[in-house]
Amino acid sequence: MEQKVVTKVWTVDNDVENAVENLQSCTQIVDAARLLRAGAVVAFPTETVYGLGANALSNDAVEKIFAAKGRPSDNPLIVHIARREQLSTVAAEVPAKAERLMEAFWPGPLTMILPRTDKVASLVTAGLDSVGVRMPDHPVALALIAEAGVPIAAPSANRSGRPSPTTAAHVLADLEGRVAGVVDGGATGVGVESTVIDMTVEPPMVLRPGGITREQLEEVIGQVALDPSFAAGATETPRAPGMKYTHYAPEGEMWLVSGEAGRVREKMAAMLREAKQHGRKTGVLATAETFDYWQGQPDADIVLCVGSRAALGEVAQQLYAVLREFDAHQVQFIVSETFSRDGLGMAVMNRLEKAAGGRIQQA
Ligand code: TXA
Ligand code: MG
Repeated sequence: MEQKVVTKVWTVDNDVENAVENLQSCTQIVDAARLLRAGAVVAFPTETVYGLGANALSNDAVEKIFAAKGRPSDNPLIVHIARREQLSTVAAEVPAKAERLMEAFWPGPLTMILPRTDKVASLVTAGLDSVGVRMPDHPVALALIAEAGVPIAAPSANRSGRPSPTTAAHVLADLEGRVAGVVDGGATGVGVESTVIDMTVEPPMVLRPGGITREQLEEVIGQVALDPSFAAGATETPRAPGMKYTHYAPEGEMWLVSGEAGRVREKMAAMLREAKQHGRKTGVLATAETFDYWQGQPDADIVLCVGSRAALGEVAQQLYAVLREFDAHQVQFIVSETFSRDGLGMAVMNRLEKAAGGRIQQA
């Protein structure tokens, strides 16, 4: 029998002066941090997505994350720190290039893979001799980690395989009754997860595209390699264990359609028509540029706008919420446009490809 718990919700206002210091002494954060120290799991906002945290130095605590998410135990977690001094607790060695990236991007959406210390709970790293570490750029996360006084292991706070949560409501939809609490600090900003870069190899290699682009990384440390698995159409196995799972997926069958805009529109229309003929509820993931057109199409039951093609930051921010909304409407068949892989587009396309389980049509 699964044990049900009452999930606490702490609502905090992080739109205040000196947010980190003020939050650290507020009763909600003190309460949530006390639970973390006692070995419970607590979800909290970061600048990317909500994380599901536990004491990274305790296997008993971390085990509860895997149980709550239904996460495969061979998939390591990211460790979150609030201050630079906490790094030596979890990382045995910090190469010069890692120092420079920290200087440039922390706090921020960049996770670095570094050699681990033996203080890190073995479940966090899934038996690997490296650990992923980041310092999130969110006052609630920073205050909570500082108040807990220990590094916090935290994957995204979704059930395994579901789109990552960008609001506390998404967390509750997936994990209510399965975790001790959720700190509600409003919607997250970046919307896609942190970039994961392996600093134990030369040149350093991006294992997961995310909030910091390859272009930004290269400006600071020169050449950066890309895990060959996420070139368009690649068949290699990804090096980050978490990247090999179907992820971020809505419940409906999703297809990406790429090519010249006019042909994409025709192809999508034909696919929707066929799905309707089979009696399926259809959805279109549209952009500001195409939304009006799709709204006028009788074969498109639910049309959701993910933002403007000219503002990929907007698209990243709204992507997971839009995928969840298709589920809320019980859409069975979804077609989506594709985006350029430049800059943040690399992360957006990676998440879309995962959401679509690799189903892509060339128009
Ligand atoms: O933005 C984020 O990174 C969010 C927030 C909550 O911080 N967290 C997040 O965690 O996305 P998670 O567990 O959903 O994804 C962690 C990814 C997985 O693909 C995992 O396989 C990879 O990082 N990873 C973690 N430690 C690793 C290691 N030592 N070596 C290789 N890959 C690692
Ligand atoms: Mg995740």
